[in-house]
This record gives sequence, C-alpha cells and structure tokens, in this order.
Amino acid sequence: KSGQQQFKIVLLGEGCVGKTSLVLRYVENKFSETNQSTLQASFLTKNIFVQNIPITLNIWDTAGQERFHAVGPLYYRDSNGALLVYDVTDPDSLTKVKVWIKELRKVLGNDVCIAIIGNKIDLLSGIERDQMNNALISEAQSYATTAGATHYCTSAKTNYGIDDVFLNLTKQMISF
Ligand code: GTP
Repeated sequence: KSGQQQFKIVLLGEGCVGKTSLVLRYVENKFSETNQSTLQASFLTKNIFVQNIPITLNIWDTAGQERFHAVGPLYYRDSNGALLVYDVTDPDSLTKVKVWIKELRKVLGNDVCIAIIGNKIDLLSGIERDQMNNALISEAQSYATTAGATHYCTSAKTNYGIDDVFLNLTKQMISF
C-alpha cells in the first residue's frame, strides 16, 4: 500500500467521561481541568506514520450529554474506527458504552474497529488500577472480548496510554 491513507475515527460515550480531553491530549498535547461540554460534534485531524505509511486520522468528538443528543448515524457512519469511552470511576458510563456498541454493530456491522477506553485511570490508586482488583475495569475488559473490541485504560490528565490507543486502532484499521 502506498500514498496517503485516511481513516475516520469517532469518539462516543456519556457526557464528562473525557472524550474531548482525550482528543485534545492526543492531537495538541493539551489538558484542561475545566469541563466544556461539546455541543454536538467537533472535528480534528492528526497525521502520523505507522509502519512507514503516512496516515491521516480524521477524529470526530461527539457530545455525550443527552440534551445535545442529536448525535447519531450522521456522525458515526463511514467510521473506520470508534473509541467508546467510559470513566473508570463511574459504572453508569460503562452501561452507556454497551448501548453504543450495540447500535454501532447494528448499523455498521463488523466494518468498524472498536476500542473501549476506560479513562481517568489517574483517579484510581495503584492497586485499584489492576483489573484483578477493579470490578468495573474487568467487566469492561470481558465485555470488550465478547463484543469483538479491544480495551485500554487511559488518562487524558497524565497522558497515560493514549498514543497506544490510536496507534493500535490505526494498525487494526490498516490491516482491516
Ligand atoms: P461531553 O463533551 O459533555 O460529552 O464531555 P467529554 O466526554 O468530552 O468530557 P471532557 O473531555 O469535557 O472532560 C470532562 C471533565 O473530566 C473535565 O473537567 C476534564 O478535565 C476531566 N477529565 C477528562 N479526562 C480526565 C482524566 O483522564 N483524568 C481526570 N482526573 N480528569 C479528566
């Protein structure tokens, strides 16, 4: 394969789980403690090299709050990859991830590479970060397996794990 490849990645998940923060950390290496609710969706681009192939990632960040719930097929259709984000301190946010995965699989089938992201891992103490000691993370991990998705823990605050998420998702999209 040669030339520029473009992939569309959409971020989905409940309000306040850190979708915007993950994208801003990845694309601009910035982090803000203040919460700015995304109104509908916003779009950022990042160019990377993976296995010497130049890749353009078109990253769509969507609104998580129901009151802005115009978010639907318009944003996720044509996606090559989806990051489904939950907050590792908020079990309800994992429920929302499961709802999104069902919808994505229904509409896009197996044509989309899905990663489940447990964000805000910095809020947990060392021992709680271990999936063996964290019921929510281990539930998310086994759910990911059954849903044909991968699972990662990240922190937009400390920049933990984020490059790996995008790199591995991109490798998956390339080989798809
Ligand atoms: P919506 O736009 O409403 O869907 O929210 P969102 O999912 O985009 O969340 P956002 O990125 O706005 O982050 C919400 C709040 O969580 C902000 O106050 C962030 O500073 C904070 N936050 C995001 N990521 C992290 C993280 O990894 N660790 C910690 N401690 N806080 C985080």
